[in-house]
Amino acid sequence: MSAKSPVIVDLKFIPEEVEAALAGAFPDREVIDLADPVHRGRDLSGIDYAVVWKSAPDLFSRAPDLKVVFSGGAGVDHVLTLPGLPDVPLVRFVDRTLTTRMSEWVVMQCLLHLRQHHAYEALANRHEWRDLSQPEAADVTVGIMGMGVLGQDAARKLAVMGFKVIGWSRSKRVIEGVETYDAAGLDAFLGQTDFLVGLLPLTPETRGIFNGALFAKLSRRGPFGAPVFINAGRGGSQVEADILECIDSSMLAGASLDVFEREPLPQESRFWDLPNVYVTPHVAASSDVRALFVHVEHQIARFESGLPLEHVVDKVAGY
Ligand code: NAP
Ligand code: GLV
Repeated sequence: MSAKSPVIVDLKFIPEEVEAALAGAFPDREVIDLADPVHRGRDLSGIDYAVVWKSAPDLFSRAPDLKVVFSGGAGVDHVLTLPGLPDVPLVRFVDRTLTTRMSEWVVMQCLLHLRQHHAYEALANRHEWRDLSQPEAADVTVGIMGMGVLGQDAARKLAVMGFKVIGWSRSKRVIEGVETYDAAGLDAFLGQTDFLVGLLPLTPETRGIFNGALFAKLSRRGPFGAPVFINAGRGGSQVEADILECIDSSMLAGASLDVFEREPLPQESRFWDLPNVYVTPHVAASSDVRALFVHVEHQIARFESGLPLEHVVDKVAGY
């Protein structure tokens, strides 16, 4: 029996977390962790598998014989844009741990805006004891753009909190308790949305989709008048100059942004200082590295025993 192929690990995550997770991972094969200087310049030919997150552009020329590429996260735009992507399956990370984290973030952001957290923080900073009129979740329609794995879970959990939830996706999805719209129903969807949540992958079709023209179509009948924009999909889907303009003109009442056109968000960005804009550093649903390696081990075992891989990306659609 031939030796099992090593696995290349090239993850720009917290190094200590990768190291700790590797301690118990892939017991039956060698791991080539490209973060380890010992592997610098190592010949990667003849290796079947790579688990990657934000690899250097020469990865595929260094490792020309890959049979499966695993994304370290749910999104794959970071792989699809690498030069020389081989014509082999690209598997994305789909896991309860990641889905749960994203829903926590989405529900938290919706609640921060619903409960006027920014205004109470400002009052507290002035040591001022005052209550504000408080709408309830049922007064707010949350519209989610992207009703895949993450959008559907967030929708369920927002509904438990009492929000009215509607969803939009490329194809029509049937989800109990959620009114859904397909691509053609975008304007009708936007017209009902008070809090807009972006959970879209970055593809040629979704690049720049969150722009001034789209924000202008959002409902203005919500409890705060102007709508709120919340995005944890990808920064390339948002036009930040338009978000700033809409906040300045009160066309948007607030925003929560986990992803940005340029990451890290530059220190001089106005987003850091805007009232009622919450900024998080692309951590809404960071991958749990142990769970990632368990998923990769599981998929490799399937592949090597002739079973179909799961969560394979449609490279033409881009997600
Ligand atoms: P998914 O299961 O593939 O779902 C993607 C959803 O987007 C689907 O509903 C799809 O429509 C819809 N969609 C794609 N292109 C569209 C278009 N042109 N028009 C309308 N709808 C479109 O992906 P997921 O697992 O939910 O993840 C979504 C994205 O979240 C990832 O791609 C990634 O960018 C982002 N993410 C961010 C973080 C973070 O920490 N900030 C963490 C994880 C993931 P169909 O249902 O018709 O296919
Ligand atoms: C994170 O951004 C992911 O795509 O998993």
